[in-house]
Amino acid sequence: MSEKPYMIVFGNEKGGSGKSTAALHTAVGLLLQGQSVGVIDLDVRQGTVTRYLENRRRFSATEEGRGLKLPRQPSVPPTGGEGEGEGEKERLAAAIAELSADCAYIIIDTPGTDNTLSRLGHSYADTLVTPMNDSFIDLDLLAKLDTVTHAIQGPSTYSEMVWEQRKQRALRDRGSIDWVVMRNRLSHLDARNKREIADVMEKLSRRIGFRLARGFGERVIFRELFLKGLTLLAPKKGGLTMSQIAARQEVRALIDTILQARRAPPKSNAA
Ligand SMILES: Nc1ncnc2c1ncn2[C@@H]1O[C@H](COP(=O)(O)OP(=O)(O)O)[C@@H](O)[C@H]1O
Ligand SMILES: [Mg+2]
Repeated sequence: MSEKPYMIVFGNEKGGSGKSTAALHTAVGLLLQGQSVGVIDLDVRQGTVTRYLENRRRFSATEEGRGLKLPRQPSVPPTGGEGEGEGEKERLAAAIAELSADCAYIIIDTPGTDNTLSRLGHSYADTLVTPMNDSFIDLDLLAKLDTVTHAIQGPSTYSEMVWEQRKQRALRDRGSIDWVVMRNRLSHLDARNKREIADVMEKLSRRIGFRLARGFGERVIFRELFLKGLTLLAPKKGGLTMSQIAARQEVRALIDTILQARRAPPKSNAA
């Protein structure tokens, strides 16, 4: 494959916000669209993506799981941890180079803590996707807000880190990082709170320089197929429930939002 793969990185500084869930569903969604997909798990401690793919591989070897598509993974994955300096950098570059040979898309999942490998992973993003739980508490991931008025007081450490990786990326290959923020686990309750968060997010997106994705609802279905490494995108025979249909639409919408940047590359990183 001669063209460079499109790199999609899932990141934020909080654990449990849906990075791995969104990364896996995006990977499987692209596979089902007939794309060649590679996956790199930089969350070495939790290893959610690695474990999920092991389950999926095991299940694909059974009668019931026959035909299940699998993404590629690097033969020597980065090992993670602090203090590995150059070795880590090279391992990640080698993993990307290996997958680039036959993948149109590379998905990178990152840990919920800031470390060298995670930062490095961010710097490779063509699109960075940041899922966040739908609450004012989680908005501080993106910016410091006045607790009463919700006025924006300045960027957060994570936004500053993304800004830094945008510079690193520009230096490395003059590329730019398109940033998408998605709200996760949206509830059907508390419409007022939801609207208020949406208003602040709109303002933030202009100020900090990200695009907003529609996001995922709070759905049991996003959790339940882990053991067999399935996702709601590939349901068993017998039809789809309403909740599955809605969830599939959400995953498709996320992929569409990500790929908008691929169809029309952003001209600059200016925020
Ligand atoms: N939209 C959702 N609805 C229901 N559960 C979700 C949703 N998104 C994530 N989860 C669950 O929340 C937990 C944390 O998600 P995960 O993707 O592992 O987060 P992260 O990778 O950011 O730490 C997991 O148990 C996952 O199944
Ligand atoms: Mg994770």
